[in-house]
Amino acid sequence: MKTFARSVGAGDLVAVSDIDVDRAQAIAETLPGDVRVFRTAEELIASDEIEAVTIASSAESHLALVLACIEHRKPVFCEKPLALTAADCQLIIDAEVRAGRRFVQVGFMRRYDAAFVELKSEVDTGNLGEIVSLQFVHRAADVPPSVTSSAHTTEAVVHEADSTRWLLNDEIVEVRVQGNAGRFGLDEWLDPQFFYFRTAAGVMIYSEVFLKATYGYEISCDVVGRSGVARLTNATPVVVSLDFHVSGVREKDFTVRFGEAYRRELEAWALDAVEGVVNGPNAWDGYCASAVTDACLESLRSGTPIQVQSRPRPALYSPA
Ligand SMILES: NC(=O)c1ccc[n+]([C@@H]2O[C@H](COP(=O)([O-])OP(=O)(O)OC[C@H]3O[C@@H](n4cnc5c(N)ncnc54)[C@H](O)[C@@H]3O)[C@@H](O)[C@H]2O)c1
Repeated sequence: MKTFARSVGAGDLVAVSDIDVDRAQAIAETLPGDVRVFRTAEELIASDEIEAVTIASSAESHLALVLACIEHRKPVFCEKPLALTAADCQLIIDAEVRAGRRFVQVGFMRRYDAAFVELKSEVDTGNLGEIVSLQFVHRAADVPPSVTSSAHTTEAVVHEADSTRWLLNDEIVEVRVQGNAGRFGLDEWLDPQFFYFRTAAGVMIYSEVFLKATYGYEISCDVVGRSGVARLTNATPVVVSLDFHVSGVREKDFTVRFGEAYRRELEAWALDAVEGVVNGPNAWDGYCASAVTDACLESLRSGTPIQVQSRPRPALYSPA
């Protein structure tokens, strides 16, 4: 909200809502201008004063709020995941198909990050030759105590699922997850977890997701081709050489690493919302990422490779 209010020129933030009304009130007071507080998100979405909506509430609330936006024919930016399961995402797809147009953009902000955009440009040149693998590292210093093994998948590796599809223009067809769920059960938080994906074209993906890595925030991605490798490391590392030692400054968290990407994605979404179009990651992208995380959760439970179950893409989401 602060990013939108302070640095997005294409729209004005005029109202907020949170199930915790005191929290909404406190946040409204920190924002520039006269920001109205609605008692419920549903009232905000239905209001004639509101032209477009951003949803950054807890993941389990996304489905109902996105459906309400589509019902009121309002452009909506929804943080990832679009919904907790592919079946729930399918309800959103069905609602958009019935409405005959796209309303939803999903918050896969890596697609707006300068380093990831450069990585994709390198892949698209073809100079790396046939791509054989991607290797991701996704580490955070800490996360809230509420995080569970399933949130590890639905809220964290969902980024690697989308990054893979976007970087390769390919679909993930099989997953395998390592984490000792047979012993601890999903309520016990398994950290780190190791994710292996295979795409329809046969590219192999490895992703380490370690959310209590304590030393700082780190995202990296190697794209390995038969003729070369492109490596994305932290976007703004500061390496200091002093007194015969080399040391680097780590980014603290995702708000620092991806701050500019969040601004760019919201700016792009707001400009598109004015035009009534969705050019960013759409509900179909949200559905495909959730189909992958569904399979990951099943693999974590069973300890076996799982095929990703995905429906055919409706014409509404055909590439332009
Ligand atoms: N793209 C990214 O990099 C990124 C980073 C962090 C979080 N997220 C996503 O943003 C979402 C929120 O994450 P968070 O860490 O800020 O969570 P949080 O728990 O800090 O905040 C969620 C807020 O939503 C409110 N809420 C819950 N249900 C609601 C409802 N039905 N109506 C209105 N408000 C409701 C809660 O009261 C709380 O204030 C999640 O989907 C998360 O995955 C995305």
